[in-house]
Amino acid sequence: MSRLQGKVALITGAAMGMGAEHARLFIECGAKVVLTDLDEEKGEALASELGENAWFVPHNVSDPDSWDRAIKAGGEKFGPVTVLVNNAGLSGPVTYTTDLDLGSFNRIVAVDQTGVFLGMRAVIPGMVANGGGSIINVSSAAAMAHLPGTPNVAYTGAKAAVRGMTKATAIEFAPHNVRVNSVHPGAILTPMAKALLDDSMIEEVAQTLPIRRWADPREVSQVVAFLASDEASYMTGSEIVVDGGRLAE
Ligand SMILES: NC(=O)c1ccc[n+]([C@@H]2O[C@H](COP(=O)([O-])OP(=O)(O)OC[C@H]3O[C@@H](n4cnc5c(N)ncnc54)[C@H](O)[C@@H]3O)[C@@H](O)[C@H]2O)c1
Repeated sequence: MSRLQGKVALITGAAMGMGAEHARLFIECGAKVVLTDLDEEKGEALASELGENAWFVPHNVSDPDSWDRAIKAGGEKFGPVTVLVNNAGLSGPVTYTTDLDLGSFNRIVAVDQTGVFLGMRAVIPGMVANGGGSIINVSSAAAMAHLPGTPNVAYTGAKAAVRGMTKATAIEFAPHNVRVNSVHPGAILTPMAKALLDDSMIEEVAQTLPIRRWADPREVSQVVAFLASDEASYMTGSEIVVDGGRLAE
């Protein structure tokens, strides 16, 4: 498969879960991939497994200086970043609004919302200078409606903000051929989901879904790869829901 041949992608939160699967698929599709994450051990291990077209850079998405270092390191290795997947996320506990302390609220927003802003701000000048690029912001189906089992108000609010920030930035940079779209996963079986729910709860949730099962991360990666590719050349400011029909009910 060569739909991403010639692309240099930076994928955040790529040490595990969906980010790791995006990295795997992007490389299968011909891209060079800069994997970034807080978890250096897992990130390094995955990058060496994926081979010469993968490169791991330690990164904290909520820190602007860390963004500058990641983009510089990625650029020196593979050339200018042409695709950014803002995937890193932090759910926090499943709790009521009235029980969420301010420190937790701010930590979740710093990763899930501020991290996406910092990422777009950091890569766009290079994309504009190089004739364009594609940014995929990973939001959530929870950005559209409250879904039972959604962790908390900070997570829902930050994911809704990502949906709005995607559209604002898409409009601003459409004339420069920088496309910005959001992806809204529903129930995807990853370490994040397994940290929030035990096995019986995971089965219970599956039975509430129209499609009666959780998604494999690759079912989201296929959509992310499409948005990264030139096949999506006329798509910007769009949102794609990948939720097994949950929001359609
Ligand atoms: N799993 C789901 O059902 C689901 C549903 C909707 C949306 N999402 C979103 O999809 C994305 C990926 O989720 P996942 O389920 O694969 O999560 P995960 O917890 O399995 O993996 C997230 C990765 O992000 C990294 N990370 C966390 N904070 C970071 C930071 N500050 N800087 C850099 N990296 C950081 C973690 O180390 C981890 O490797 C997230 O944005 C999440 O909110 C997940």
